[in-house]
Amino acid sequence: MTTTLISGIGELTTNVAAGGDPTGTLRDAAVLIDGERIAWVGSSATAPAADEVVDAGGRAMIPGFVDSHSHLVFGGDRAAEFEARMAGQPYAAGGIRSTVQATRAATDDDLRARLRGFIGELRTQGTTTVEIKSGYGLAVAEEERLVRLAAEVTSEVTFLGAHVVPVEYADDPDAYVDLVVGPMLDACAPHSRWIDVFCETGAFTVAQSRRILEAGITRGLAPRVHASQLGPGDGVRMAVELGAASVDHGTYLTDADIAALAASDTVLTLLPGVEFSTRQPYPDARRLLDAGVTVALACDTNPGSSFTSSMAFCIAIAVRDMGMTTAEAVWAATAGGARALRRDDIGRIAPGARADLVLLDAPSRVHLAYRPGVPLVRRVWKDGTAVV
Ligand code: NIG
Ligand code: FE
Repeated sequence: MTTTLISGIGELTTNVAAGGDPTGTLRDAAVLIDGERIAWVGSSATAPAADEVVDAGGRAMIPGFVDSHSHLVFGGDRAAEFEARMAGQPYAAGGIRSTVQATRAATDDDLRARLRGFIGELRTQGTTTVEIKSGYGLAVAEEERLVRLAAEVTSEVTFLGAHVVPVEYADDPDAYVDLVVGPMLDACAPHSRWIDVFCETGAFTVAQSRRILEAGITRGLAPRVHASQLGPGDGVRMAVELGAASVDHGTYLTDADIAALAASDTVLTLLPGVEFSTRQPYPDARRLLDAGVTVALACDTNPGSSFTSSMAFCIAIAVRDMGMTTAEAVWAATAGGARALRRDDIGRIAPGARADLVLLDAPSRVHLAYRPGVPLVRRVWKDGTAVV
């Protein structure tokens, strides 16, 4: 197996906590890659020999971004809906149905080509792990093909048959829930690791959501939940009760939600691209962090509420408008995402972890927020292979 030494790293964010610093930042550091894994981390001055040496030239390195929330399998787009929103229209859950129509009309190859395009787009921006949800099929064969296609590009596949009630069931939402927990779950579980529900007014009630998540758990899927995106509700506490790995959105959290999250090992995944693109207020990440909640950041790439795939953009918003330090935001976009996916082999730079690494064209990670919109990703390694 070939070894590669990356030396001369000006600032290395390891996310291996040291001396009260959760980012475990090292200066003038080096990383040794052996095959798919990291073999050694330390000072450039004491680095071991390797087959190949890369000089980082004093630049900053961070773990590959872990984007723990996306909806990348869909047809069409909703640029007109975005324009209308910027002109004053509110965002509503029902917009999902127009993407369902476009997705059903697309062939497997159309969806596959688009999905592969997105994976390339993510890689060049430093994302080395992505979770992908279904949810734009909303019929048994349609949802099955979305999780099957997602499984071609990631192991973090989420069955989201309960994204919204499709028009065919508008008069009988509980009959749709019967379909989701029955034949749809049977068809989708073999391709999925996770089960998710959009628990919100206009989508699914807390009782329906609980029924769906419990059915998924019985089938061996682990729960994650969309909640409190459009207004406060009981979804966050239900998710914590069910031991969800993550509750996502959390735009409208109550003190009771925050207390429940802080006392649990459920991560709260913030999705700043959504507030940006729907003109909603940014959640107060500082309040969450100060209360002891574990926070992740993700893009929620989808054609409706957030069509960015840039983790750097989300970091910049989190720092500018949500009260996070750059160190906290970078941690949330890497180690936080790994926690939200219950993974310990990614999101940190340590011996034994996957060699998923991003070299920035900047001397420090602060530049991710300080230089918003600027492509700062210079090189990316995924499982030890240079992919950018
Ligand atoms: O995470 N909240 C529900 N699902 C997506 C939005 C999907 C859409 O508008 O198409 C989200 O924001
Ligand atoms: Fe989402």
